[in-house]
Amino acid sequence: MKSTVNQLMCSYYKANSKKGLYTAVGLSLLLFFNNLSAQNHTVAQRVDSLMKLMTLDEKIGQLNQYSSSWATGPVSPEGNKLQEIREGKVGSLLNVKGVDKTRAMQEIALQSRLRIPLLFGLDVIHGYKTIFPIPLAEAASWDMNAIETSARIAAVETAASGIHWTFAPMVDIARDARWGRVMEGAGEDTYLGCAIARTRVKGFQGKGLGATDAVMACVKHFAAYGAAIGGRDYNSVDMSDCSLWEVYLPPFKAALDAGAATFMNSFNDLNGIPATGNSYLQRDILKGKWGFQGFVVSDWGSIGEMIQHGYVKDQYEAAQAAISAGSDMDMESRCYNRNLKQLVRDGKVSVSLINDAARRILTKKFELGLFDDPFRFSISEREIQTIADTEHRIQARDVARKSIVLLKNENGLLPLAPSKKIALIGPLAKSKVDMLGFWNVEWPDNSDVISPFEGLEARVGKGNLLYAKGCDITDTSKVGFSEAVNVARKADVVILTVGEKRDMSGEAKSRSNIHLPGIQEELIKAIYTTGKPVIVLVNAGRPLIFNWTAEHVSSIVYTWWLGSEAGNAMADVLFGDYNPSGKLPMTFPASEGQIPIYYNYLNTGRPASDDGSFANYQSGYIDLAKSPRYPFGFGLSYTSFLYDGLKLSSEHMKSNEKIEVSFSLTNTGKYAGDEVVQLYFRDQVASVVRPVKELKDFQKIHLDSGEHKTVHFTIDKEKLSFYNRKLEWVAEPGQFDLMIGASSADIRLKSTFVLE
Ligand code: GLC
Repeated sequence: MKSTVNQLMCSYYKANSKKGLYTAVGLSLLLFFNNLSAQNHTVAQRVDSLMKLMTLDEKIGQLNQYSSSWATGPVSPEGNKLQEIREGKVGSLLNVKGVDKTRAMQEIALQSRLRIPLLFGLDVIHGYKTIFPIPLAEAASWDMNAIETSARIAAVETAASGIHWTFAPMVDIARDARWGRVMEGAGEDTYLGCAIARTRVKGFQGKGLGATDAVMACVKHFAAYGAAIGGRDYNSVDMSDCSLWEVYLPPFKAALDAGAATFMNSFNDLNGIPATGNSYLQRDILKGKWGFQGFVVSDWGSIGEMIQHGYVKDQYEAAQAAISAGSDMDMESRCYNRNLKQLVRDGKVSVSLINDAARRILTKKFELGLFDDPFRFSISEREIQTIADTEHRIQARDVARKSIVLLKNENGLLPLAPSKKIALIGPLAKSKVDMLGFWNVEWPDNSDVISPFEGLEARVGKGNLLYAKGCDITDTSKVGFSEAVNVARKADVVILTVGEKRDMSGEAKSRSNIHLPGIQEELIKAIYTTGKPVIVLVNAGRPLIFNWTAEHVSSIVYTWWLGSEAGNAMADVLFGDYNPSGKLPMTFPASEGQIPIYYNYLNTGRPASDDGSFANYQSGYIDLAKSPRYPFGFGLSYTSFLYDGLKLSSEHMKSNEKIEVSFSLTNTGKYAGDEVVQLYFRDQVASVVRPVKELKDFQKIHLDSGEHKTVHFTIDKEKLSFYNRKLEWVAEPGQFDLMIGASSADIRLKSTFVLE
């Protein structure tokens, strides 16, 4: 009998799990579920069956998520997590990585009365073991195939390591480069942000939940976290409903429409209501209007943080506010585990709210196949093989190349000939960990990361690359300058690598001063005075300010934090194996005083000129032009592109009609290259004033030297719509400007049309 039972158990869970303590209830449950699954009952039916067996404690346990000891937030008291897992009081763990550790935790969970498997989540933001460029860099590629590949490989490696869920994509629109988390998103534009949100969800979830190479996406941070006042992380957000609906919500909706399994709420209050306790966001919009069927996890401790917000007086009220507002799972605050049962007893919280949250969470566990086999993601041989897949590095190098933005290249200094004697100088030249950027999964050994030095030396040959550090990233010592100048004098051309350390952008890394840190720009000046041709590579997680360099140095390349293959990707671009095609997904300010600065601003009644001339009584600064250092959508190429022959199928359209737009794009230079052509509109007159321009479509087009192509766009009512004062999504009749550009400030073709 016993062997049969064990066979049954093992066959049910298809796992060689150690001999566990199987209770009589567990056995009958297993028989019951085994029977159900065999009859292909729906997930909903299987969830219902399980819910009927669960106690209130066990349901509340599903709503509880703990971190492992590797914390990504303020560390909570350890307590006895393992015992709580064994007692079925934990539904999920985060920051547990690897087959061995996830298997071990799962086996403890399967000792609970109902043997409900754990969900394992991790911040796989831009790669798991193979690290890709930070998301803001990938956004600069405007290449949805590249971005999907990056997310797909991240998912494959993550799932092979026993993890079911990534806390990504972060889709927060951000217009303030002082906010450190701009590195984690897709920049300032809603249209580009929506395209990237959809793409990343698709990459992470692949063929869908249940595939063992797919992980649940988690769209974050809901909502408007990127609009923190002053760019100070966790700060308040105060905005109109029009802005919320027009700018900040669409990427969340795009991700939901792409099938995102989960959402994560945000630390900020929105107009005085903390997001995690905000039923307008989570119930009215997300679960109500948008019909979201997945579950919402709070952000690290955010439920308990409503006390600090001054929104609730204690954890009891925090739990009540959060569950009532639609926060299904409590990450690390322990408010749910400690208070929900009492809240139900006190009649303050209906058990139906707990049932709904538990059902949403259990549904995902069934969809992932965890009740059929809790260990289906935790197979050691698969983990080893997947992590070592060299194709992942090849793809990482390709995505990195496509993320690089060429900001300046006067005198055609780039691309370089390998025959030139090159000096590589700067504090990031030999860095590895700084190439990974923030939010990379931590590994004890980063020796496999290709530094700029390694990437360039591989191209010019060992011993042929001169090097000096010059200075550190943040300190003010110039002791290394003389050596750097001497090394520069021995070279034909100098490449400087400057920028931020990997932890100078990211969570809780807001900066009031976003100039190049330390004395790096003085180092650039010192090298510049040698008279040698200089190329500057900027490695950073955000737009930085480097005005002197921008005005004096002939070639500047924004290399962000490019990940595992950073050095190789830089070499590919610098030596012309890849013609840079990136375009900025964020506006680069000339001064912090301009922030917030973005391209799709409103014109005001007294618009200042863009050319820097200042007339009194205009909306500008008396001490600085209003235009940025580099505009949204800007990026150069080694070749040049001609835009001409704009045609519209009509200059009038009814709301149920479309206008077909076409133009000819020609590669007029000597290198093959990719161009991101951008379509902008301006609604000249509307019931709510509209931005001076809005991105409404784009295409990334490859052309060989001399090749030309007819490019097509379609204008439909959707592209002309906006939220009016009643928050109705409308397209109002009137005249529209149509602009096609190589950037938001480099409009090459213009026309107008009328919506009747
Ligand atoms: C952090 C971040 C969030 C992350 C979570 C788990 O505080 O805000 O983006 O997913 O905690 O690490």
